[in-house]
Amino acid sequence: MGPRGRILAVTLLSCAILPLLASALFPNQLINDIHGSDPNPDESNYVNTIINEHDLVNTPQPDDFFTSIEKEQVTSKNGELRNQKETGSHKKKHKREKKHKKEKKHIKEHEPILEPEPEIVEAKPVIVPEEPVKELVKPVVNEPAEPVQGGLRVGYYQKTCPQAENIVKEAMEDILHKNVKVGPSIVRLFFHDCFVTGCDASLLLDKTPSGEPVEKTAVHNGLNVQGYAEIQEIKTRLEAACPGIVSCADVLAFANREALNHTGVPRFDVVSGRRDRPVSLAKNVDVNVPLPDTPIQQMIQMFTKKGMNLEDFVLLIGAHSIGEAHCRNVADRFGNPEKRKEINPRYLDKLHVHIMCVDPNQTLPFDRLSHHHMDAAFYKQLLASETLLESDHNLMKEPNANALMKKYGDDQDGWLAKFTQSIIKLGNIEVLTGDQGEIRKQCNAFN
Ligand code: HEM
Ligand SMILES: *[C@@H]1O[C@H](CO)[C@@H](O)[C@H](O)[C@H]1NC(C)=O
Ligand SMILES: *[C@@H]1O[C@H](CO)[C@@H](O)[C@H](O)[C@H]1NC(C)=O
Repeated sequence: MGPRGRILAVTLLSCAILPLLASALFPNQLINDIHGSDPNPDESNYVNTIINEHDLVNTPQPDDFFTSIEKEQVTSKNGELRNQKETGSHKKKHKREKKHKKEKKHIKEHEPILEPEPEIVEAKPVIVPEEPVKELVKPVVNEPAEPVQGGLRVGYYQKTCPQAENIVKEAMEDILHKNVKVGPSIVRLFFHDCFVTGCDASLLLDKTPSGEPVEKTAVHNGLNVQGYAEIQEIKTRLEAACPGIVSCADVLAFANREALNHTGVPRFDVVSGRRDRPVSLAKNVDVNVPLPDTPIQQMIQMFTKKGMNLEDFVLLIGAHSIGEAHCRNVADRFGNPEKRKEINPRYLDKLHVHIMCVDPNQTLPFDRLSHHHMDAAFYKQLLASETLLESDHNLMKEPNANALMKKYGDDQDGWLAKFTQSIIKLGNIEVLTGDQGEIRKQCNAFN
C-alpha cells in the first residue's frame, strides 16, 4: 500500500470499522446475504446491498475468503447441458460428419490424448463457413478468402528440424525463469493470433506491405503486452539451428503449450506445419476479438464463426485463471455504479481496486490466489461474481455457460483435459499450409 493509500486507510478506518466488525462476527450471515440460496447471483442479489465507498477501501477480510465462498458452491447437473448443446449444433454436426469422413485419415494422426467419447469429434479441425453476423458485426474487409485447412501434423519438423520442439521448450524455460508473467501473455497472443485470420503469426508483424496499421496496434491487443520479443527470441534460436524451417505460427503454437504446461496443464501434442501470413491488419481485429464490454451474444457469435462452440468458450475462458489485466481494462467497470452492483461486494473489499488502480498501467491478477496456476477454482470465483472482467461475468450469467462452470469448477483434471482439446481446436483455425504464406525469417517482419 502506497503512502496515499495509507492516508486513505487512516481516514476511512472509522467508517470501515462497523462493517468490518459485522463481517468478523457474522461471516456466514454475510455470505448468505450475498449469495442467497441461489448460486447464480443475478443483479437483484446486489441491488439491495449498500455499497459504501468507504467499505471498499479498507476492509480486511480473512484470508480464507475464497475458501469459504467455495464451500458454498453447489455442483452441477450436466446432463441437461449436453442435450442443449447437441440440439444447438445439430445441423453443423451433420455437415462436419461428411467432412470428417474425408479427413478421417488425417484426424487419426493426431487423435488426442484422451478417452474416446463422441465430443472428441468437436476437437478436430473444423471449418465453419463464415456466417455473416449482419446486425452485430461489420463485414470484414480484406480478410483473406477461404483459407485452406488440414495438412498439419504432429512432428511436422521431425525430418527438417528434429530438435525444433525441444528448442522451444528450453527457450521457454529460460524465458519463464526470467519472467514468469510472459507465459500468460503468450497464451493470450496465441488466442488473439488464431482468432484473426487464423493461426498465422499475423499478430506478430510490425508492419504490412501496404503500410496500414497492423493487428498488434488494435486496442484489443493492448498496450504493454509482453511476449512479442520472447517469441522472436525463440525464433532466433531456431534460426541458428535450422534456418528458414520453422514458421513463426508454429513457434507461437509450441510456445503456447510450454506456457500452459508451466501453469500446470499436462503436455499435449501440438500439430505443426502452419505457415506465416505476410499480412496483418488492425481492422480485422475488432470484428474477431471481443473486448470486455462486447455483448455476450456477439462474443458467442465470434466464437461460433471460428468453429468454437459455447463449451469451448467456457473451457478457454478458464485461461483467465492465469495472468493479469491492466487497470485501464477494468477500472471503468468498477467505477460504473450499474456494473458495480453486479460485483460481489466482498470481492470489491478484497480487491482494493481504488487504491490499486490509480495508474491505468498497473495490473491486477485475475485469480488473486493462484495466478501462476491454471486453477478450476477460477470458475467458482466467476460463479460468485468475483471477477475482474465484465465479459467473464456476463458469460457466467448465460445459463448454459453457468452450468458448465459449475461442472468444471469441481473438476480440475476434467477441465484441463477438455481445455487441452479446445486449445488444439483453436490451433487449427484457418491455418495456412503447403505453399501458402511463407516461413518468416523474423517474426515481426514479412520476408
Ligand atoms: C472471449 C472473450 C475474452 C475477452 C473479452 C478477453 C479479454 C481479456 C482482457 C481485457 C485481458 C487483460 C489484458 C490486459 O489488460 O493486459 C485478458 C487477459 C488474458 N486473456 Fe483474455 N479475453 C477473452 C478470452 C480469452 C481466451 C479464450 C483466452 C485463452 C485461450 C484468453 C487468455 C487470456 C490470458 C492468458 C490473459 C492474461 C494475459 C497476461 O497476463 O498478460 N482470453 N483477456
Ligand atoms: C507438464 O506436463 C507434464 C506431462 O504431462 C506433467 O507431468 C507436468 O506436471 C507438467 N508441468 C507442470 C508444471 O504441471
Ligand atoms: C502507460 O504505458 C504506456 C505504454 O508503455 C505509456 O505510453 C503511458 O505513458 C503510460 N501511462 C501512464 C499514465 O504511465
